[in-house]
Amino acid sequence: MSKNAKLAVLGSINADHILNLAHFPRPGETVIGQNYQVAFGGKGANQAVAAGRAGADIAFIGCVGADDIGERIREQLTQDNIDTTPVEVVEGESTGVAMIFVNGDGENNIGIYSGANAALTPDCVARHQQVIAGADALLMQLESPLESVLAAATFARQHQTQVILNPAPATPLSDELLALIDIITPNETEAESLTGIAVHNDDDAARAAAVLHAKGIGTVLITLGSRGVWLSEQGDGQRIAGFSVKAIDTIAAGDTFNGAFVTARLEQKPMYDAVRFAHAAAAIAVTRSGAQPSVPWRTEIDEFLQQQG
Ligand code: RIB
Repeated sequence: MSKNAKLAVLGSINADHILNLAHFPRPGETVIGQNYQVAFGGKGANQAVAAGRAGADIAFIGCVGADDIGERIREQLTQDNIDTTPVEVVEGESTGVAMIFVNGDGENNIGIYSGANAALTPDCVARHQQVIAGADALLMQLESPLESVLAAATFARQHQTQVILNPAPATPLSDELLALIDIITPNETEAESLTGIAVHNDDDAARAAAVLHAKGIGTVLITLGSRGVWLSEQGDGQRIAGFSVKAIDTIAAGDTFNGAFVTARLEQKPMYDAVRFAHAAAAIAVTRSGAQPSVPWRTEIDEFLQQQG
């Protein structure tokens, strides 16, 4: 893939309602929060923004509602260097919503209303098939209807477009879909849900990767939080450490990693360098709050890497 290689991202768009509080409420408990903000999010949009700000030539396939926030999100995506022509406005539906609690340790939990994201149907994918056919790589997640993810992956395979799947949130996947994936990027929880292997250490990660290779996936990247990632190419595995920073909010850290990683690969960076580039982008993101507000631009990633030596 060349420096001008094209990326298509297909996925969700949400308005994130984020409440920071000391600890997560237990069932029946009310906790008074310290800070509340509405920020643009959604795993698809976050990954598209991460790629756009990192310098990718990118088009985004997604859906917003016919509402004010959907309009503002589309404008912002355009400013983030993203071709939003394939972002559809769905009449009679609201833009997707994520209700997010962030606790004092920077951890989060999330509840979602899909809204317009549910309108990203196989028919919608078919309307934008030329975007997929004309791309060198297609990046997807699992906040869109599964049948649409399958339709897009099938279409990508027919047109030699590389398929990268970030299987988040954790969802059981068919062997039919897995066989169409070139690169998969689960975290530990998602890797366990896909393989049945609990990932506590590098050996577990290697065994989980082997299960995914056996399904037909050439490259497996299991993200391991503060321990970095386990990279396995056709069973040849290594752990690549991340950067140590003080995290205040991990929302969209994985999304930033994915968008930056694919951008680097499209620039033909070797796998190891692409992972380090993505680690740097994610390390910056966790030092900031919110999803898209936390995603760094290319100059920031390059400077961070330079400082690391
Ligand atoms: O990955 C983080 C994202 O998950 C948030 O932006 C939220 O919208 C949910 O989709």
